[in-house]
Amino acid sequence: MVDLNPAAECGERPSSSEPPGSAAATVTPPTDVALAVSDLRVAFESPHGLVRAVNGVSFSIRRGETVGILGESGSGKSVSVSAVMGLLDRPPAHITGDIRFRGVDLLRAPARETRRIRGNRISMVFQDPVTALNPSLTVGYQIGELFRVHRPGTSRRYALREAVELMDRVGIPSARERVHGYPHELSGGMSQRIMIAMAIALKPDILIADEPTTALDVTVQAQIMALLAELRRETGMALILITHDVGVVSECTERVMVMYAGRIVESGPTGAILARPAHPYTAGLMSSMPRAEMKNRRLVVIEGAPPVMTAIPPGCAFHPRCGRRRPLCTGGGGPGLRGVAEERASACHFAAEMVAGG
Ligand SMILES: Nc1ncnc2c1ncn2[C@@H]1O[C@H](COP(=O)(O)OP(=O)(O)OP(=O)(O)O)[C@@H](O)[C@H]1O
Ligand code: SF4
Ligand SMILES: [Mg+2]
Repeated sequence: MVDLNPAAECGERPSSSEPPGSAAATVTPPTDVALAVSDLRVAFESPHGLVRAVNGVSFSIRRGETVGILGESGSGKSVSVSAVMGLLDRPPAHITGDIRFRGVDLLRAPARETRRIRGNRISMVFQDPVTALNPSLTVGYQIGELFRVHRPGTSRRYALREAVELMDRVGIPSARERVHGYPHELSGGMSQRIMIAMAIALKPDILIADEPTTALDVTVQAQIMALLAELRRETGMALILITHDVGVVSECTERVMVMYAGRIVESGPTGAILARPAHPYTAGLMSSMPRAEMKNRRLVVIEGAPPVMTAIPPGCAFHPRCGRRRPLCTGGGGPGLRGVAEERASACHFAAEMVAGG
């Protein structure tokens, strides 16, 4: 058994008012919470040591809300949601913590019960639609298969009719003909629409979109984001949107969680965070984002690179790159995620100073 709790700094706290060690208690779901993740830790065995990809992540998703997960490459965004979706092989992945969907314990419930939820009540759209589709099966068959797997007894004819309706719904022209086509006959944007059709087919409560537009060109990116927003409004599902892009977070989400080195370092309402970040890493991500009003001004990138996940620095993991660093930042367990303003939390010792404008 791999120990995933070697360092005191690993604990995240959704609220400053809770004493240490009470992370699970702080996420006891109120009635509108669909998904509650508490103290999630994921490590992978590797020849170079234990890769500590997720280090004590706690969050909850309310029904119908849109939440962004923002962070540089390697910060643990995909691994966190892959754990929710049950996509990690155990081993090499070692997972601890608690993931509950409407009270069902997804890490410990029997496979029969978790299968009923994953892919059905919670579904996912991946970054690269082309590799996610099976090249040897028609798109209609692949969409229809979802109904046959999750709703036993569904006829082929019904499944095909549903597939055509869904393809229509996500904006595939001539859906009646294309339903018999193969993935290689579709553009990247069309393939992503098919993936979205599959993800919404069973009317999930939560859709997780992991960088859903990265592999697409800019015009198609905007269309796909507009489609996701429209579907969310129509169906009332919650949307978890993973991205590197502060612009996408700003335009498409109500709440944001910023990840660094496998932890949430800032969370809260998107508008408030982007107006005045309470963590230097968030501020750095915002400065590295091109904006119209910054024409002719040099883009500031965060200096240095994210840590190697087999050797996360002691103290605040961001300290080697942080312009605000002080002696307090480099040792001990590092700052946990604490409340800093209404509905806002930050894992920086000097968050209150930042929010106050210092
Ligand atoms: N199967 C695996 N085995 C070993 N390490 C892994 C595995 N999957 C992910 N990792 C490591 O876990 C860390 C977090 O990876 P993750 O894919 O969650 O990053 P991310 O934030 O989604 O990045 P990106 O924006 O590039 O997609 C990285 O250091 C990555 O190399
Ligand atoms: S705790 Fe210190 S090193 Fe970490 S983000 Fe805050 S100021 Fe920077
Ligand atoms: Mg990823």
